[in-house]
Amino acid sequence: MPDEIGTGAVGTIEGLLVETRRFPPPPEFAAQANINDPSVYERARQDPEGFWASIARELEWDQPWQTVMEWNPPWVKWFVGGKLNASVNCVDRHLKAGRRTKAAIIWEGEPGDERVLTYQDLYREVNRVALALRRLGIEKGDRVAIYLPMIPELPIAMLACARIGAPHSVVFGGFSADALADRINDCQAKLLITADGGYRRGRVVPLKETADRALDRCPSVEKVLVVRRIGESHQVTMQAGRDLWWHEVLAGIREQYCPPESLDSEHPLYILYTSGTTGKPKGQLHTTGGYLTGVYITSKWVFDLKPDDIYWCTADIGWVTGHSYIVYGPLANGATVVMYEGSPDWPDKDRFWDIVERRHVTILYTSPTAIRQFMRWGPEYPARHDLSSLRLLGTVGEPINPEAWMWYHEHIGRGRCPIVDTWWQTETGMILITPLPGLTTTKPGSATLPFPGIEPDILDEAGNSVPTGQGGYLVIRRPWPSISRTLWGDPDRYVKTYFSKYGPSIYVTGDGAKRDEDGYYWILGRVDDVLNVAGHRLGTMELESALVGHPVVAEAAVIGVSHEIKGQVPVAFVSLRAGYTPSDSLAEELRRHVAEVIGPIARPERVIFVADLPKTRSAKIMRRLLRDIAEGRVLGDTTTLTDPTVVEEIKRTWIAEH
Ligand code: WT7
Repeated sequence: MPDEIGTGAVGTIEGLLVETRRFPPPPEFAAQANINDPSVYERARQDPEGFWASIARELEWDQPWQTVMEWNPPWVKWFVGGKLNASVNCVDRHLKAGRRTKAAIIWEGEPGDERVLTYQDLYREVNRVALALRRLGIEKGDRVAIYLPMIPELPIAMLACARIGAPHSVVFGGFSADALADRINDCQAKLLITADGGYRRGRVVPLKETADRALDRCPSVEKVLVVRRIGESHQVTMQAGRDLWWHEVLAGIREQYCPPESLDSEHPLYILYTSGTTGKPKGQLHTTGGYLTGVYITSKWVFDLKPDDIYWCTADIGWVTGHSYIVYGPLANGATVVMYEGSPDWPDKDRFWDIVERRHVTILYTSPTAIRQFMRWGPEYPARHDLSSLRLLGTVGEPINPEAWMWYHEHIGRGRCPIVDTWWQTETGMILITPLPGLTTTKPGSATLPFPGIEPDILDEAGNSVPTGQGGYLVIRRPWPSISRTLWGDPDRYVKTYFSKYGPSIYVTGDGAKRDEDGYYWILGRVDDVLNVAGHRLGTMELESALVGHPVVAEAAVIGVSHEIKGQVPVAFVSLRAGYTPSDSLAEELRRHVAEVIGPIARPERVIFVADLPKTRSAKIMRRLLRDIAEGRVLGDTTTLTDPTVVEEIKRTWIAEH
């Protein structure tokens, strides 16, 4: 088992477990924290449903639920019979609560332009866009695809969809035309919302052109709403009868109020695609009442959100982190959220610290990859700035190595700020394993303890809990309100992926983990063929099918290899079709090809040409052996291979190239 666990993390994990540094919550922090009564864990353990119900009651419901949870494993429903609207909870509610003039979103464009939307502004925009969507024929239940840069129109569009009960499916702006088309087609979106472009490192990302290429094969899309972000300097073609300018459609909306749909607690809120072990992305379906309950309370307790906080999560809204902890969670709390469009090194490598200083950011949530990048750039960049507004730091997306944790603590937190290392997934919707900053003593590299009401375990192959210190499969034993309800259009795959290894009531996360003597969790990384590149999930199969889609490729196997900054990077082993010979330019061509098919995040770090791939007699590619080679380990069992010499040959090639 341990050598099957992920890649990259294995080498360091023994080191993680001997980590002896401890950081108790600073007393001043604990004294003011939203949650500082340790009995919360026991209360939630004794009556999980009562616990979740007490939290759900903090939201605004049009109609109360009859049953807190209905569980027919693996299927679960929360707050059954209850009715509510997510946009009302994220916007309208705060107007009544005296937050009309409070900033909801402080947005900064990469070129330096800015927009501040108060809750009143957000309310007006969400209502008007909701009206516009209705006018364009979008009805409750219709899917709306959103392919936008990090501009305020993105959360506005999401909340407008939520208002009329049209599930949105946001596609990360870095994805290719093919990836966008696959997602649109999978959920059969009727409308696409995109922009003429976005800014990244001073250049224009041509979203509309990419969308146009995708739409050539998306018959379900009837209309395209185009936000003008760039304007004159970047012309786009508008297809008559299909494409409409966002500002023109809105100019035609006279009313100010769009009555929200009163939605069933289990009404779909959104679909968000994740990579899995096969080539086809999985449409995770999140519903309304339970999801909102989960992200609301984790935002409040894990980030300790207070009325005066300026909270900044640096993720892109195209990923679940942005959905839960830029949009729905913080806004359900009436918080002030900072949103930044561009790159951390534009115009210089201190852009983040410049934003923290100028905006008086108090809570910062970012990724280990970003932190390692900042370490590489050097402490002089944050040192140029006054970061004294910060009071809490968070990380998410990958295991954080203790050195990066300590650097974050010293150079960003200046030794004062608690750090919350939050473990969760697109499927889980909300943070599940995390410190509570007013209660938990942290250890660098550990996500620490389950959130109240969450019951994880670590199992061996046979389904027994493993002893302290031993690696195993991380599972969750009881449902929580924000778990993904199914995979859009593919319930069988949902059951097979998450609820078959140990039966229908145990959720299998796909991660390996260990527990220490204090019951703290140490996440070891993926146990399946999923890579985690800079905090983003990529399926090896996805990359492999992109590679074999190229005319010169016969076969391909992709593995993740440890990388100093990105955690992992893809490395591709490729055999060529007869008549082609390996060359540097061909390797480069294949790397470019993968970036084009999937998106730049998927570009393999290296392409290694091999004569053949190691396969079992049942023709399965043994990626494990490739990982052993790449990470310099003694080769595992090779007796099941059809031809053991193949792997020796690959090993020679690998060593020769290093
Ligand atoms: C995978 C989920 C959840 C938002 C971002 C990624 C890894 C996530 C941590 C953490 C160690 C982590 C896991 C997980 N992961 N957070 N704090 N420590 N690993 O969402 O794309 O659904 O990926 O990210 O491997 O399974 P995602």
